[in-house]
Amino acid sequence: MAKRPYIVGNWKMHGTRSMLAEARAIDRAAERLMKVEVALAPPATLIHATRKEADLIGVGAQDCHAAEGGAYTGDISAAMTKDAGAGFVILGHSERRTYHQETDADVQAKAASALAAGLNVIICIGETEAQREAGEAEKIVAAQLAGSLPQTPDAGDRITVAYEPVWAIGTGKTPTVDDVNAMHKAIRETLHSVYGDAASEIRILYGGSVNAQNAAELLAGPEVGGALVGGASLSAESFVGIVVAAA
Ligand code: G3H
Repeated sequence: MAKRPYIVGNWKMHGTRSMLAEARAIDRAAERLMKVEVALAPPATLIHATRKEADLIGVGAQDCHAAEGGAYTGDISAAMTKDAGAGFVILGHSERRTYHQETDADVQAKAASALAAGLNVIICIGETEAQREAGEAEKIVAAQLAGSLPQTPDAGDRITVAYEPVWAIGTGKTPTVDDVNAMHKAIRETLHSVYGDAASEIRILYGGSVNAQNAAELLAGPEVGGALVGGASLSAESFVGIVVAAA
């Protein structure tokens, strides 16, 4: 059976406890939109509180460390993340790759650690504008993906991939629907070459300037399994608009 569309809000470094009202409102809306799987990834400081406020939606983290524990001041392990109430973790977001110099190998190690700790993973990949203009987008994304996927073929149902063109994040720019569909098809092929049949279980999300107005069109492609949403997930009104469009 085809999986439900998966709409994930990534709050990035936004939100204090006053934002929990938005999480509650999103949770209430999810109750009448059960055709869609809805999740939020608040900052680590809000994971526990969000889990307590919101029963129906998934709650996840935006990163975790690859090591089980140790002298890594300021970092949070996968097991700690799960203990705080997260069910999944976003890994390899372009902001982590850019501002924290995360490599594909780092993402792969974090993904293995997260799966071992019982977390599902959302692995992010995407090309820069210069790479797209040079006609290298599919090649770059395929290499990023192959280098970032954990070597655990039996974990297909616990892995989600998010295609996020870096130039579309927070800019209001989006690729054409044809470009999104072509990239998702190429990603599916890479997933099959790495995982074989287990790749069919993996949802591929689109992320980058998704809003309630463009969601239905961006999500219509056969290989688009949902969306990873940044800015428009910060208010329940705009996020629920995307969930409605996906239903
Ligand atoms: O994780 C979410 C993405 O980076 C998309 O962010 O919806 O603000 O463009 P955005």
